[in-house]
Formats: sequence, C-alpha cells, structure tokens
Amino acid sequence: MAPDERASTAPGVLSQRRRGESVPDDPGALDVAALERRARALLPPAVGDYYAGGAEAETTLREAPGAWRSWRLRPRVLRGVSAVDVATTLLGADVRTPIGVAPWAYQALAHPDGERGTARGAAAAGALMTVSTSSGTALADVAATEPAGPRWFQLYRLHSPAHTDDLARRAGEAGYRGLVLTVDLPVLGRRLRDLTNDFALPADFPLPNQPLHGSLPVTGQPPWTFDDIGRFGDVSGLPVVVKGVLRGDDAARCVQAGAAAVWVSTHGGRQGDPVIASAHALPEVVDAVGDEAEVYADGGICSGSDVLTALALGARAVFVGRPAIWGLTTGGADGVSRVLAGLTAQLAHTMALCGLADVRTVPRDTVTAAR
Ligand code: GLV
Repeated sequence: MAPDERASTAPGVLSQRRRGESVPDDPGALDVAALERRARALLPPAVGDYYAGGAEAETTLREAPGAWRSWRLRPRVLRGVSAVDVATTLLGADVRTPIGVAPWAYQALAHPDGERGTARGAAAAGALMTVSTSSGTALADVAATEPAGPRWFQLYRLHSPAHTDDLARRAGEAGYRGLVLTVDLPVLGRRLRDLTNDFALPADFPLPNQPLHGSLPVTGQPPWTFDDIGRFGDVSGLPVVVKGVLRGDDAARCVQAGAAAVWVSTHGGRQGDPVIASAHALPEVVDAVGDEAEVYADGGICSGSDVLTALALGARAVFVGRPAIWGLTTGGADGVSRVLAGLTAQLAHTMALCGLADVRTVPRDTVTAAR
C-alpha cells in the first residue's frame, strides 16, 4: 500500500486528504513572517529597510510582538458558541472586522497601485483604512477609489497652520469619517537604517497632500497642544482620534479636550526607543478613558490571537501597518485583502476556541499575564 493510501484510510489520521489533492483555501493560514520575507525579496533593500525599520536600537520594534504574547488566553468552555460575529462599529461606521489599516507613507514605493490598491483591498475585506498625510495619492482620489470606505485621514503638522487646516477641512469634505492626529512626532525618530542607507524619496515622487514637499515634522510653527484637538474637530467637522498615546493621564486629557478616540501606538517603533509596548500601555489607557471614548491599538500585531488579546485588554479595534505593507507589496489590493481576511479568520477561530461569540464584548478576564 502506498503511504498516501494508508494515510487516507487508517483510523485516527489527521487528514483524510490524499497527497497531491487540492485543499480548500484557508485564509487563516496566513503567516505574516513568511509574507514579509517574500515582500522584502521584491523591494529595493533601502525601501524594505524604510518600512521594516525602527528608531535607535530598535528595542521598541523588536519587543512589540512579544509584548502581546506576554498575555495568555483563558478559554471558556461549554458556552454553546456556534457562530462568531466579528463585525463592529468604529466611531459609528460599520466594519466587517475590528482589524483596520494603519496609516503608512509612500505606498507607491511598495506597489504601483499605491494607496488606491490598499483602499480596494481594505474595502474588499470590509475593513477601515487610515490614509496618511504622506500619501502619494491625493486624499480625494483615495476616497474616490472606494467611495463607501469607510476611511479616516491621518494628519501631520505641515508647513503652515493654514495649510494643515485646509487639509483637515478637505478630509471632511471628501467623506472621511474621522481625523487622526498623530501626536508622537514632535521631532522625527532617529532611524539608523535610513541614515545608513541614505534613504530618500525619488525627486519626482508625488506628495499631493504636502505641496511644499518638506520633510516632517515642521518645527517652524507652534507645536500642537491639547487645545488643537477640539480645534481640528471644528475645522474638519470630523470626530478626532488622537494617535500615539501611551499614558493614561495623556489619554484622559485628550478625551477632556474633545477626542472621540485614543489610539495607543509606538508609531511602529519608529519614534521613541525604548518605549513601553502598546500591549503594556493599553490597560492603563483603557482604565483612564473608561466609556468616554473608543480606544484602539497597534504595534507588532501579526496574528488573530494578538488581536483577541488587544480586544480583551479593552481595545475596540486594532490596526496593522507592516502586514498590510507586505500584502500590498506581494499582491496589490488582493494582497492587502488577503492579509486582513487572514487575520480576521484567525481572530474568529481563536474566539471560537475561547468560547466567545461577539467581538464587541470580549471580557477583560479573557487574558491573564503569562507566568
Ligand atoms: C512616518 O510616519 C514614518 O514613520 O516614516
């Protein structure tokens, strides 16, 4: 008997499949590390380093994934869970997954479709996309690619306060549903890979949201304070999300100042280093904010169990940057949607294993610190 025939008939075998037979595609078989290796092989080394790298000694970058895994799941049994619902709302917008796309710059360096590809991929997965100020595609053109969205616009301080206000206003007019103020970039983190590689954008690279093409951040004008949160809400007519918060006291002040949501983030380990991991800052922020605002998290999330850990710690949603970059690089819009669908399938599977039916009500005691 050939080994494959024995495998298909013997009792107790793991698979009834004959070798060589096709298997149903399992989106949850996504392996982000393997995807990164494939993407890096396609990208010029300096571009791959720009996306993959962090600041200084890259301690924050390195520790981020492990910080989620410093928590352990506590599965519930016999709860009669026959279906898992992963749909939710983010600032009132319906999404089919609590996994959104974080803002990341210069997407045409990864794939010719750039931000339009990411917009199509996110829409196919029913996920929210955050579009960066440093987009190679004008904010209105990204919106026109997938009018139903939903999407948020990420705002940096630009060369003139009037121009920054204009951008915020245009985001409101173009149908964006939220304005994400990135507040962890008073100065740019020191990214040693980029300095060593002498990384620079091609001279003709379009930056339509930054007409003066200057590097960020702008230091020649007053820095933002808590008062800018309400002001940008008024200017744009949008709920304001404050991104880059790592402390409970800051989170509480953001909410008092009018923030609709707080986004716990280390900027992908690209700013301060070493700083506290999102997975460790999140509980303090959630406790400080209470029910007053939504809380999100990003940084090092690369599996459905990481997502479930974040939700248990009180995040309403998580965002992924690099996994989406690797998806866009390797497969354009399809690559982005495969990453989002893959992580979502992993989340649903892990929820089923933990006896949880609804992504909107994941109890805090679903996780405990690893011993
Ligand atoms: C920009 O936000 C960057 O991290 O490079």
